[in-house]
Amino acid sequence: MIYMDNAATTMRKPETVIQAVAAALGSMGNAGRGAHGASLSASRTIYETRELLCRFFGGVNPRQVVFTSNSTESLNIAIKGLLEPGDHVITTMMEHNSVLRPLYELCGKGVELSIVKCDKNGVLDLADLESAVNSKTKAIVCTNGSNLTGNYVDIKKIGRIAKKHGLLFIVDASQTAGVFPIDVQEMQIDVLCFTGHKSLLGPQGTGGMYVREGLEVRPLKSGGSGVQTYSKSHPSDMPTALEAGTLNGHGIAGLHAALEYLNKEGIDKIRAREQELMRRFYEGIKEIPGVKIYGDFSSGERCPIVALNIGDYDSSEVSDALLTEYDISTRPGAHCAPLMHEALGTVEQGAVRFSFSHYNTEEEIDTAIRAIRELSAEEQ
Ligand code: ALA
Repeated sequence: MIYMDNAATTMRKPETVIQAVAAALGSMGNAGRGAHGASLSASRTIYETRELLCRFFGGVNPRQVVFTSNSTESLNIAIKGLLEPGDHVITTMMEHNSVLRPLYELCGKGVELSIVKCDKNGVLDLADLESAVNSKTKAIVCTNGSNLTGNYVDIKKIGRIAKKHGLLFIVDASQTAGVFPIDVQEMQIDVLCFTGHKSLLGPQGTGGMYVREGLEVRPLKSGGSGVQTYSKSHPSDMPTALEAGTLNGHGIAGLHAALEYLNKEGIDKIRAREQELMRRFYEGIKEIPGVKIYGDFSSGERCPIVALNIGDYDSSEVSDALLTEYDISTRPGAHCAPLMHEALGTVEQGAVRFSFSHYNTEEEIDTAIRAIRELSAEEQ
């Protein structure tokens, strides 16, 4: 199988990640719940992973790294834990439902929402974003990269806008964490939300957030923490304040190995390789009659994604043909990004999304180019 659905989840993981999860499954106790070796070693693995993530994202204190199950959970905690009725918040048409739906939910509870438009290539104008700020604006919530078009968002510039107006800045790094450099201090990010199973190359069910020191986020959950058992309220110290219940220690052990792999290989090298493969595919298909490609390919930096349609074919039919005739896995449809499809004019048709990994090969890319050429010839 030729796997080109890496924006949904990276299927091929480093061998060390698989070994780390298997070893943890056979040996890991419950972190913070005992003084025996199995529990202590779980605590050690989890703390070391916090340290690795803190360094990876330019953080100050590993205790500000919170583990969650994915970006959606992190974004729910950040959005619902920071906004209150009467606040105004700004987001963009590029967002995934993991940002939009929590925001829509708050709109029903007295939060006012502005959604900054994108052009037909899915590009934001940051002047529009800044002009949406008003006296009640509390936060900007935005993605670092579109999961549909692959367009990269310059979050350093948005961080500057947020700070200039005294706003909180919440970033959805689902498509960028692990492959683009992210520095929460330099980019003035208050809450960075990430998932472990995409470019961080860890297991599904891992993810987290980095919360700026001093920023208090209301927890969504309370419960067991292993400490302060006789207190009626959940501990307020970070990271426990935002982590109730047993963590996914087995997954975190895999994420630990994945971070070591990324540090060893170097994310610049991985990103360069992924962008090279994406450009090879883009160059190979861009002149094929009937093929429409979405997104901005004029900028140097973009996520390794190419979204396209062939004529008026439904995107699901094209994706099915890619699978049955060429054994190529892609993702068609709406990609949980309703407003992005609105901006691109693809609400009805959806789009076929190819998303690459550094593990893909030139031969696989060339097979995908041939597939698009043949399928679009059938359409003519
Ligand atoms: N959010 C993931 C995607 O874009 C699942 O496919």
